[in-house]
Amino acid sequence: MKDIFGKALLDYQNGNYSEDIITATSISDDDILPLPYLFRSFSDMPKLEQKALQLAKGDTLDVGCGSGSHSLYLQKKGLNIKAIDISKGAIEVAKQRGVKNANVLDILDETETFNTILLLMNGTGIFQKLNLVAKYLKQLKSLLKPNGQILIDSSDIKYMYEDEDGGFWFDANNTYYGELDYFISYKGEKEVPMKWLYLDFNTLKLACETVGLQCELVLEGEHFDYLARLY
Ligand SMILES: C[S@@+](CC[C@H](N)C(=O)[O-])C[C@H]1O[C@@H](n2cnc3c(N)ncnc32)[C@H](O)[C@@H]1O
Repeated sequence: MKDIFGKALLDYQNGNYSEDIITATSISDDDILPLPYLFRSFSDMPKLEQKALQLAKGDTLDVGCGSGSHSLYLQKKGLNIKAIDISKGAIEVAKQRGVKNANVLDILDETETFNTILLLMNGTGIFQKLNLVAKYLKQLKSLLKPNGQILIDSSDIKYMYEDEDGGFWFDANNTYYGELDYFISYKGEKEVPMKWLYLDFNTLKLACETVGLQCELVLEGEHFDYLARLY
C-alpha cells in the first residue's frame, strides 16, 4: 500500500488542500471523494453515522478511523476511545486533530476488548470479500466485552447493476455482486487496487448467524444504505 489516502488526509490537515481524491470501481467510472468530507463534523455526517455515535457507549474502538472524525466527537463526549487504521498518514492526522489513543493497527491484530466497536463509511468494506466476512466477524466478536455491540454500516448496491428495463446485469453464478475492485488516485498517483465489499443487510445477517452474532437493523438510509447492530 502506498498510503495515497493518508497522504491526501495529511495534505488537507496541513493546509495543502488543492485536489480531491478520485475513486473508481470495477463497475463504476471516476468519482470525486471530497477531502473535506473526510473531516466532517457531527452535523455534516449522514443520519446513519449520527445514530451510531448516539448508540456508542463505554470503551469504544473506531475501526478504520481515517482522520478520526467519529473518534473526536465521542472523545469530546467523554467516552474512552481507541482509534485504529492501517494508514500511517490517517493515524498521524487523527493524532494531530487530538485523538489521544490513535494507532496504526490492522483490525485482525487488535487484542483489547470493548463495549462498542464502530465501523463506519461502508464499514463492511474492510472485510474485502464475501468469503472473508466470517473471519472478520469472528475477530470482531472476540473483541467484545460482555453485552458489547458492533455498529456497522453498508449498502445494498444491487441498484448499480440495474439496466433501463429494470433487469440486472450481474451473473448470479459469479462472485457476490457487492465485491468490488476499488481504485483510488490523488495528485496523479495511483494506489495499489484494493478489494472493497458492500454487503446487503440479509447477507450480513446470514453471515452473523454462522458465527453466533445477533444482527439487527437499526436504521435505513435514503439510498439502500443501512446501520446494523451486532451483539
Ligand atoms: C472509507 S475509509 C473510512 C474512514 C473513516 N471511518 C470515515 O468515516 O471518515 C476506510 C478506512 O479503513 C481503513 N482500513 C482498511 N482496512 C483496514 C483494516 N484491516 N484495519 C484497520 N483499518 C483499515 C482504511 O485505511 C481507511 O482509512
